Amino acid sequence: MLAIGSDHAGYSLKCEVIKFLDELGENYIDCGCDGERADYPDIAEKVCGKITAGECEKGILICGTGIGISMSANKIKGIRAALCQDYYTAKYTRLHNDANVLCMGGRVIGAGTAEEIVRVFLSTEFEGGRHAARVEKIMKLENK
Ligand code: RB5
Repeated sequence: MLAIGSDHAGYSLKCEVIKFLDELGENYIDCGCDGERADYPDIAEKVCGKITAGECEKGILICGTGIGISMSANKIKGIRAALCQDYYTAKYTRLHNDANVLCMGGRVIGAGTAEEIVRVFLSTEFEGGRHAARVEKIMKLENK
């Protein structure tokens, strides 16, 4: 199960991504917004809350640049949010960082690029091995 959300600036790309998720047959919970003005930290909190509660395994967050919503998500314990604007970073943030939240900028990328990013993010498994200890170190930084 996935959680997805956007602010107003990411809303139209979120609609495109939802169409794509429907085509893929993915199950998701849409945490808003519905096009109205929304503050990206509130949407990040809703989507990441589904993950920390164990209701969803991964999340997708979209704001205008993808930056504010990824900064917000990364403040929440247990979240590893990655801002991806291309296929390569989406692939490697799953392989090496075990990212559980994908962030994108609705004013930065188009629907075609977003679809490629979402597809590889959802289908790529964490490589583990030497990367596992590094991810553990990331998680320890939560307590600093
Ligand atoms: C909203 O205007 C915009 O600031 C927001 O979507 C995002 O880009 C912030 O990082």
